Amino acid sequence: MAESERFDTLLKENRIFLPTKSFRAQANFNDVHIYEKAAEHPEEYWAEQAKHLSWEHPFSKILEWDAPHAKWFADGTLNVAYNTVDRHLENGRKNKAAIIWEGEPGDSKVFTYDMLAREVNKAAHMLVELGVKKGDRVTIYLSMIPELPIAMLACAKLGAIHTVVFGGFSSASLKDRIIDADSKILITADAGWRRGGLIPLKQNADQAVDGTEIEKVVVVQRIGEAANVTMTEGRDIYWHELMESMPTTPFAPEPMNAEDTLFILYTSGTTGKPKGIVHSSAGYLVGANTSMRSVFDMKDDDIFWCTADIGWITGHTYIVYGPLSAGATVVMYEGAPDWPDRHRFWRIIEKYGVSIFYTAPTSIRTFMKWGHEIPMAHDLSTLRLMGTVGEPINPEAWMWYHQYVGREKCPIVDTWWQTETGCAMIAPLPGLVATKPGSATKAVPGISVDVVDQDGQSVAPGQGGYLVITKPWPSMLRTVWGDDERFQKTYFGQLRGIYLPGDGAHLDEEKYIWILGRIDDVINVSGHRIGTMEVESALVDHPAVAEAAVIGRAHEVKGQAITAFVTVKEGIETSTDLIAELKQHVVKKIGAMARPEEILFAAELPKTRSAKIMRRLLRDIAEGRALGDTTTLADPSVVESLKLQYQDKE
Ligand code: PRX
Repeated sequence: MAESERFDTLLKENRIFLPTKSFRAQANFNDVHIYEKAAEHPEEYWAEQAKHLSWEHPFSKILEWDAPHAKWFADGTLNVAYNTVDRHLENGRKNKAAIIWEGEPGDSKVFTYDMLAREVNKAAHMLVELGVKKGDRVTIYLSMIPELPIAMLACAKLGAIHTVVFGGFSSASLKDRIIDADSKILITADAGWRRGGLIPLKQNADQAVDGTEIEKVVVVQRIGEAANVTMTEGRDIYWHELMESMPTTPFAPEPMNAEDTLFILYTSGTTGKPKGIVHSSAGYLVGANTSMRSVFDMKDDDIFWCTADIGWITGHTYIVYGPLSAGATVVMYEGAPDWPDRHRFWRIIEKYGVSIFYTAPTSIRTFMKWGHEIPMAHDLSTLRLMGTVGEPINPEAWMWYHQYVGREKCPIVDTWWQTETGCAMIAPLPGLVATKPGSATKAVPGISVDVVDQDGQSVAPGQGGYLVITKPWPSMLRTVWGDDERFQKTYFGQLRGIYLPGDGAHLDEEKYIWILGRIDDVINVSGHRIGTMEVESALVDHPAVAEAAVIGRAHEVKGQAITAFVTVKEGIETSTDLIAELKQHVVKKIGAMARPEEILFAAELPKTRSAKIMRRLLRDIAEGRALGDTTTLADPSVVESLKLQYQDKE
């Protein structure tokens, strides 16, 4: 078939969407040559983007690359909080809304850049008063309330390193992260709202800090009496009481070296121990800021809403650092999409006139289940661009999003990236790139990716392989906190200087990238990364469990769901009560997002003769496929009985 004919078919079948002329005309990035230019001179491209930041001392070096360690803009200094807040007081945005916050019960607050600056100044004074110094780690365990970005920005202002722990994590997970980061200060709240109920943040924090080096716990009062918290004399202090007594005088932004650490954010890997991903100050901010202008085409009159939680990288980059460094107005919502009813998200878009909306495929699939009548009951005409992140989006969900939310007029940017990459890496620039439902399209300018085989050779179009990033980029992770060897081994262990994200992918005829999902022992549940080993460790921690194997299986809404196969100790009776207890144990050890969808008891787990658990076979069982090669099994009858048991369950 001739090229143009093939293209027409793709267009007709809704398998490709072109940017409209009008979108392209107004897009920040509308020069198609930008891709070639950036590919020819990536360092110059990034240096050009870095000029969008305000430098205390300009850089003269762009990149020092001693693989796998990169230094970007190494002799420059700047302050990230100055760039995200203070500079807007001098560039005409002083009284522009920075954060429009809406609480779950319906309360709301607007912070202009000026108001945000005052809060950040006071919070920075407060942290200093508590003894926090440049380079110290501050753990923040909050739900989606304004004090969360304020605390992060206050750390950035004085040069402390924040480490935000998602409010859904258990006290045990919080404790591990506090210990690993060696924090002396914890900022939390009495409790948080979720679907009308309370998340007992302070109670979890009390359990977590025991046996750690935490000296002070600062408690935001979000709920009040109903939270029923106990304050420990000498250790716990209320945020509002401290803030009240702080001077309103500006806090001088600490000049930071470009390479100084801005934050640590923990993410799951293939071992039981989460990795503290370390991000730099300048490089990270250059990546976050550039993608706001390029991928999200941010303009001064946009209202940008990213529905992620700030406890994850998506919220760090696209609620706090990216949009605020670009002087945007962001919407920040505290609660659940179905509280008090399933109209909440669309009502928020209508109420504030959201123009750019960024959410996860798992949420879109949930909205699909609830029915298109719900978004269709609202005036969403302010939307002009939409995005997705966190997992591959199935074409059906893409089309639904396009039709019922975007009303067939909004480009969709499917953004592939990771905690480690800092900002969107593979995504269309909406004024330039034709999109294909289900594909994140191609790498953004300045980023080089490839799909390779085991020997590092590029694969031919249509063939699957490993996604790799072949050149360093400004917002790449710098190391794993306290474990540089793990950093080197995990991400650069296979091919020197080539970053391995852990995802499979294939390229189509037009070199579009289709992400196939993780190729390691990491499960992606509703866009959240969970290591199989973490869940296995939580299960074997229960006194009834002898052994556990955990896999991710395909799930209609969540993308993947956790299935656990468990062998109990001698003499233990298996029962549905025990299943419930084990699920609860995982929630207690990790958090609700790691709760197994199902637990099956196995007399024995399928193992090779060298005692390696064959997870591949367990996945076949859980996804109802014919079993793959079983010849290496020590005892082939084990899988047959598991298979029967799995079928019985349904
Ligand atoms: O497997 C990829 C998937 O999410 C992983 C990164 O997870 P995390 O560090 O928690 O960050 C999530 C949000 C940035 C990746 O290795 N992933 C993320 N975005 C996409 C995706 N898979 C396919 N398409 C995407 N757009």
